[in-house]
Amino acid sequence: MIKNDLFLKALKGETVDRPPVWMMRQAGRYLPEFMEIREQYDFFTRCQTPELASEITVQPIRRFNMDAAILFSDILVIPQAMEIEVQMKPNFGPYLPDPIRKAEDVTRVVVPDINDTLGYVMEAIKMTKEKLNDEIPLIGFAGSPWTILCYCVQGQGSKSFDLAKGFCFTQPEAAHELLQKITDTTIAYLKEKVKAGCDAVQIFDSWGGMLSPIDYQEFSWQYIQQIVDALKGHAPVIVFGKGCWFALNKMAQSGAAALGVDWTCSAQNARYLTGGQITLQGNFDPARLLSPPKDIKKMVRQMIDEFGKDRYIVNLGHGILPNIPLENAKAFVEAVKEYSQ
Ligand code: CP3
Repeated sequence: MIKNDLFLKALKGETVDRPPVWMMRQAGRYLPEFMEIREQYDFFTRCQTPELASEITVQPIRRFNMDAAILFSDILVIPQAMEIEVQMKPNFGPYLPDPIRKAEDVTRVVVPDINDTLGYVMEAIKMTKEKLNDEIPLIGFAGSPWTILCYCVQGQGSKSFDLAKGFCFTQPEAAHELLQKITDTTIAYLKEKVKAGCDAVQIFDSWGGMLSPIDYQEFSWQYIQQIVDALKGHAPVIVFGKGCWFALNKMAQSGAAALGVDWTCSAQNARYLTGGQITLQGNFDPARLLSPPKDIKKMVRQMIDEFGKDRYIVNLGHGILPNIPLENAKAFVEAVKEYSQ
């Protein structure tokens, strides 16, 4: 039994005294103790070494006492396991030297055995669960197939992901074959993560909002739906689609336990679009954590009032920025813990 089960209760839609809180990308670059580890080990060494990954996972919890931990890892371990090379270049981000550009490239992409290729993630989960000692739940995650395709085809981050979109629109058959291979790998991966100890999983569709509503259904949503269906009975699934407010209505009928919302969609709109029943998560503008702590606290209270304390998980609308002062991150979490109606 997990002692602080606020997060799991919110996922089930149960009544709570206050909503749970965690922050997307909470284990990261704004923490000085993380920066120390970062100086000693390169990115994928940190992901692949269970001692390091579990330590980084619990660092923000020790400092701020969030109601859930998210495993330190990256969405791009999936293409790596599928035999697509991924490098993490300092001050640049992900770089894939041999991107997918044509049908033959897709043919050579492997749907791997998860334990052979990503066993280190499962070890990190087990070690993290020990460190968490059943105090709070652990979230596992994966990128959406579309978001993974974006990196596999573009070869790096992008403002437009024009090559990724061009690939889908000129070679749809190859694109769908790739998306299906990523989906199959992701389903097996998330099931293993749950077996290893994750209490819930989140799908990050960080680049879903790049697509038009019609293209979103074809190239992103149908694959996320497959993942949600496959995880049924295994663990609650949170779907976070950045810029995907237009799909919230459909998402609300998918069987997902909760939906992430970014800061461009108001609480009222998100509740309206989702029918008022499903748990929502979000949606504080990550840059608003630059405001003075007293303003942050006031805005967090307002946000909870707008979403309502039930069927709600307090979070940012996207990942925390690297330049957020520690006391501001602290104010965000504290405001939720101090909340009473
Ligand atoms: O939430 C957490 O703190 C857990 C760890 C986590 C990382 N990446 C660690 C990381 C999570 C949940 C991710 C997800 C991820 N990775 C996403 C989806 C979420 C989102 O922000 O939209 C995406 C798109 C990626 C791909 C990725 N990884 C990018 C674009 C970058 C470079 C830019 C950046 O944010 O730094 C990474 C590198 C990365 N992943 C870092 C961390 C802590 C920073 C690099 C480093 O520490 O050396």
